[in-house]
Amino acid sequence: MLFKQQAWLRQKLLVLGSLAVGSLLYLVARVGSLDRLQPICPIEGRLGGAHSQAEFPLRALQFKRGLLHEFRKGNASKEQVRLHDLVQQLPKAIIIGVRKGGTRALLEMLNLHPAVVKASQEIHFFDNDENYGKGIEWYRKKMPFSYPQQITIEKSPAYFITEEVPERIYKMNSSIKLLIIVREPTTRAISDYTQVLEGKERKNKTYYKFEKLAIDPNTCEVNTKYKAVRTSIYTKHLERWLKYFPIEQFHVVDGDRLITEPLPELQLVEKFLNLPPRISQYNLYFNATRGFYCLRFNIIFNKCLAGSKGRIHPEVDPSVITKLRKFFHPFNQKFYQITGRTLNWP
Ligand code: A3P
Repeated sequence: MLFKQQAWLRQKLLVLGSLAVGSLLYLVARVGSLDRLQPICPIEGRLGGAHSQAEFPLRALQFKRGLLHEFRKGNASKEQVRLHDLVQQLPKAIIIGVRKGGTRALLEMLNLHPAVVKASQEIHFFDNDENYGKGIEWYRKKMPFSYPQQITIEKSPAYFITEEVPERIYKMNSSIKLLIIVREPTTRAISDYTQVLEGKERKNKTYYKFEKLAIDPNTCEVNTKYKAVRTSIYTKHLERWLKYFPIEQFHVVDGDRLITEPLPELQLVEKFLNLPPRISQYNLYFNATRGFYCLRFNIIFNKCLAGSKGRIHPEVDPSVITKLRKFFHPFNQKFYQITGRTLNWP
C-alpha cells in the first residue's frame, strides 16, 4: 500500500515538475521576445506618400523571421505571394561600399530591423554592364519579397568605385539613400590585400607582399596605381558621386566603430533612414571566440558572420604603415570636411 502511494506521489511530482519547467520556459521565451515583438512599428514618414502613416503589422515580425527567409531564397509560390500581399521592391537605400569596410556586417545588422529586408546576394547591377543591360525589371526581380511597408536594402561594394554607377543609380531613383561604410584607410587597404592573398593561396598561387604592392620600388612613394590604395582614397570617389547626389543623401558609417560598438552606429542609420528605433542591445552579443559581435534575432535564432569576415591580417612593416597613413591624411581631412563626419584617423 505504502509502495503504491509513493509511486502515485512520485508520478504527481513528475507531472507538476514538468508543468513548472514548461511554464518557466514559456516565460523566458516571452520575456526574450517582448522586445522584438512590439505590437506596432510605425514607420513615420519613412516611405512618404500613401504609406507614411502606415503601421507595421505584428505578423510581419514573425513572418520576417520564418517564411520570409524562404521567400528571400525565391521559394515563394504565387499563392503565398498573393496571400501575404508580397512584393519585390527596388531598394530604398543602397550600401554602395566601401569594400572591406564592413558592408556585410552593416547589411546583416540592419536586417535585424523589422521594417528592413535585405537582398542577400550582391547584385552588381549598376557596376556590371551585362547585368545593367538586362534592365531595371531584371534588377527588381532579384530583390527579396517583402511587405509594401518594408524597405529593401542591397549592398554591392563595387558601386562606390565604379565610374558609371552614380549616374545609373540616379536614373533609377534620384532621391535614394546611400550608405557608405568606411574604415581607417590603411587598415582597409590591408584587409583588401588579405582577401586577395587568401584567394591566391586557395589556388596554391604565390603573391607579392603588401609592402611591395603598396610602395612603388622606383620612387619609394605610395603606389597610387595599386587598387587597394586607390579604393581607400574615399574623397576622390565621393566627389564623383556628388556630381549626381547632394551630400544629404549620403550617410557615413564608421566601420571601425561598427566592429567595437555596433549599436550606436546602427541607431544613426535608423535615424538616417527615418526608421523607428527597433534594433537594441538584445540583438547584438559579443562572441569571444569570433572576436566580433554576432546577431540575435530572437531567443532561438542567432548567427555570426561567415569566417571570411574578420580575417587575420599579415604583419606589415611599420614604416610602410606610417607612409600610407601620411599619404591618406589630407584625403581624410577632405572627406571629413565634405561629409561632416570626423573619424579621428591617424
Ligand atoms: P577583416 O576581415 O579585415 O577583419 P566587408 O563585409 O565589407 O567585406 O567587410 C569585412 C570586414 O567587416 C571585416 O574585415 C571585419 O573586420 C568587419 N566586420 C565588422 N563587423 C563585423 C562582425 N560583426 N563580424 C565580422 N566581421 C565584421
